[in-house]
Amino acid sequence: MSTSLDDLRTGLEELRRANLEALAKARSVDEVEQTRIATLGRARGGLNDYKAHITALPPADRPAFGALFNTVKQELEQAIASRHAELSASAPAPAAVDLSMPARRQWRGARHPVTIVLAEIEAIFRDLGFTVATGPEAEHEWYNFGALNFPPDHPAMDMHDTLYLERGGLLRTHTSPVQIRTLQSYPPPIRIIAPGNVFRRDFFDASHAPMFAQIEGMAVDEGVSFVDLKATLANFANRFFGETKTRFRPSFFPFTEPSAEMDVACRICNGTGCATCKQTGWVEILGCGMMHPSVLEAAGLDAQRYTGWAFGMGPGRMALQRFGIPDIRIEYDSDISFLEQFAQ
Ligand code: DAH
Repeated sequence: MSTSLDDLRTGLEELRRANLEALAKARSVDEVEQTRIATLGRARGGLNDYKAHITALPPADRPAFGALFNTVKQELEQAIASRHAELSASAPAPAAVDLSMPARRQWRGARHPVTIVLAEIEAIFRDLGFTVATGPEAEHEWYNFGALNFPPDHPAMDMHDTLYLERGGLLRTHTSPVQIRTLQSYPPPIRIIAPGNVFRRDFFDASHAPMFAQIEGMAVDEGVSFVDLKATLANFANRFFGETKTRFRPSFFPFTEPSAEMDVACRICNGTGCATCKQTGWVEILGCGMMHPSVLEAAGLDAQRYTGWAFGMGPGRMALQRFGIPDIRIEYDSDISFLEQFAQ
């Protein structure tokens, strides 16, 4: 830039003219802001370019140019402020609220019925002094069968029921292996429940699924008896289903002796007989029994000194009873209209 007074004056006046014109044309507060930055800011091409030249002029020219500089600066500042005010006042008002519009639907998450049942069962047993134990889903054959006193040719070990893994081991067919793992990890007294998923090569029908949740329970100490088993499980049923009749039927499991199954009066028909209870008025909810001495011994315990009882139940089936769900496959469907009924 030339530094003669005339050139500076011309440049400054051109800057004023161009920017006043830009302001007049500005259609938005943003455009005014751009002009402000270009003229009053530090970037090249604005007023700042001229400021340095004031001191470079011969002393005689300085007052006149200084005065012009100040006038242009003030003029631009005022023009910017007033255009800014004008444009913000005339900015379009926000769209009016349409009160007739339907409200947006609020989606509330729900816990799955089986999760609800699992949590309730856990809470009841915690209250009775049980702690929660876990074990792996991919399990050794010994923990799943051998240690639990299954004879080597037991039909449950058949390829038809068990999912064997290619590199050895299997997917546990029940939560009972957690009994052995727990007995190996600390000494009695032991009271645990073990919730978890189990896997079977079952058909997928109204009451069977190839993967489902189980809850194992076990109490081991000196002098534990079948009376403790019956009292604990009947107490549990009353708390879980509300006051209910229970009955114990003799049964068989390789890992318990004696073994039993516990039934509760059918919730759907109140014990009078319906399709769900196959007209019997009773529904089986768990298997149980006194732990077989060989099981205690397989886990390294002295079966002369200790006794124990155990049970296994299926929260998926219990949820059918509890919520009156007719078909277990619904529990696996991820059907929102079914699941949202459980929102609390
Ligand atoms: N493990 C058995 C099953 O999956 C259920 C069971 C029955 C577990 C009796 C137990 C028990 O602990 O005592 O069918």
